Amino acid sequence: MTNEFLNNINEYDLKEKYLSTNPEDSENPVFIKSEEYVNKDAAVQEKSSHEKSAIAVSTTNLSVWFNDKPGIENVNINIKKDSVTAIIGPSGCGKSTFLRALNFMHDLTPNAVVTGEINILGKDITEYNSIDIRKKVGMVFQKPNPFPTMSIYDNVISGLKLNWGHKKGLYDEIVETSLVQSGLWNEVKDRLKISAYSLSGGQQQRLCIARTLAVKPEIILMDEPTSALDPISTAGIEASIHDLKKIYTFIIVTHNMQQAARVSDFTAYFYLGKLIEHSKTSTVFTKPKEKLTEEYITGKFG
Ligand SMILES: Nc1ncnc2c1ncn2[C@@H]1O[C@H](COP(=O)(O)OP(=O)(O)O)[C@@H](O)[C@H]1O
Ligand SMILES: [Mg+2]
Repeated sequence: MTNEFLNNINEYDLKEKYLSTNPEDSENPVFIKSEEYVNKDAAVQEKSSHEKSAIAVSTTNLSVWFNDKPGIENVNINIKKDSVTAIIGPSGCGKSTFLRALNFMHDLTPNAVVTGEINILGKDITEYNSIDIRKKVGMVFQKPNPFPTMSIYDNVISGLKLNWGHKKGLYDEIVETSLVQSGLWNEVKDRLKISAYSLSGGQQQRLCIARTLAVKPEIILMDEPTSALDPISTAGIEASIHDLKKIYTFIIVTHNMQQAARVSDFTAYFYLGKLIEHSKTSTVFTKPKEKLTEEYITGKFG
């Protein structure tokens, strides 16, 4: 873990996030900051469940049907914790459908039927309710969608206020940490109370990332998060993903193959609703196992 990374994590994070997801470090005195939080039994229990699985997301024969037509079909995938997985493929091949399945979003879609199994952090997705799943699995969309009538500050804490019941006294700290992590803090720290709408598109997207981070999920889904942004904002977001993957699992849909190559550890290629290949990113881009993948990454179609 780098010093730079540690500097960006405050005590609140250590208690709320780091200890809870990396219980092995609770044995390191550096991380024991609060008696109130550290419950050894819970940490030991969690340690054993985390040791069992380094897998954040696993699907078995996952299909999503829209009016009897498959959006995705029989997807079997294991996604490693604390890594970045890029989902690539031509338009209409099921990338968003796959992502949306991972936090129950098809519940909101009439005529969508999900079949097969989804395991999130060691538990079948049906064992979570829709609030719990969104605490564990955050989502960032293509078009930045801050709440237009709220200030920057209120946008960051909006998820906490709605569902989490954190103590108000922690809000300032959470806002600062989340904005530091999303790379926006220095640009907005003196004007947290102004409307989120006065920010540029790139800043709004980093605000949406901060809003997602504030809830401290374990998995962050991003559906083409930079496709509407300029290259500088894009580079900022890619840098945040790179720094944060030590404590979060990212699954990011991107149309931009350079981006997939830059930010991801693993790449999954979807074509016509099927998962064609899921390998290390270096393998996918240098010696793909499947001919279909090769045709796509060399620009023969798509
Ligand atoms: N809400 C929906 N209703 C009907 N069909 C849908 C819906 N969402 C996606 N689809 C269909 O599922 C397929 C996969 O779409 P999508 O996951 O959005 O692709 P991608 O994100 O790769 O562009 C497409 O054929 C699309 O038309
Ligand atoms: Mg899509």
